[in-house]
Amino acid sequence: INIHVLNGPNLNLLGRREPEIYGRLTLADIEQLAREKAKSLGASVTFRQSNHEGHLVDWIQEAGAQGAGIVINAGAYTHTSIALRDAISGSGAPTIEIHLSNVHARDSFRHRSLIAPVCLGVICGFGPMSYVLGLEAIHRVMVERT
Ligand code: DQA
Repeated sequence: INIHVLNGPNLNLLGRREPEIYGRLTLADIEQLAREKAKSLGASVTFRQSNHEGHLVDWIQEAGAQGAGIVINAGAYTHTSIALRDAISGSGAPTIEIHLSNVHARDSFRHRSLIAPVCLGVICGFGPMSYVLGLEAIHRVMVERT
């Protein structure tokens, strides 16, 4: 089982960015946690981050073409991007939306996700553990489908 973990804008700043909201771990630390989880599941993982919407679109298409599953923290594009939504639905890749913070406990503009309707489900509010839970969830879905 092949899983792509995709990260959107500003997540490269984790560790320094609003640590009271996002915690002190860097994205490299989170990647390490994700790699450990994938290893324990026997899954292969690709872990990427971009601040550019089009890169994320390309990577979603790539995951779809490879028959991979996706765990995506789309950052603020979650709330704005029809392009990411269309990429997810068009790629056919089973996808789980994740967030570090509980977006529903924050600004109202974070309550709406344009990508959630084309994802299998959403995990938010567990900090770095959201990534671990996302990997667990997509792995289970993909095992059940094979
Ligand atoms: C986020 C939540 C988004 O609303 C925000 O724009 C982010 C991070 C999270 O992981 O909590 O960039 O996706």
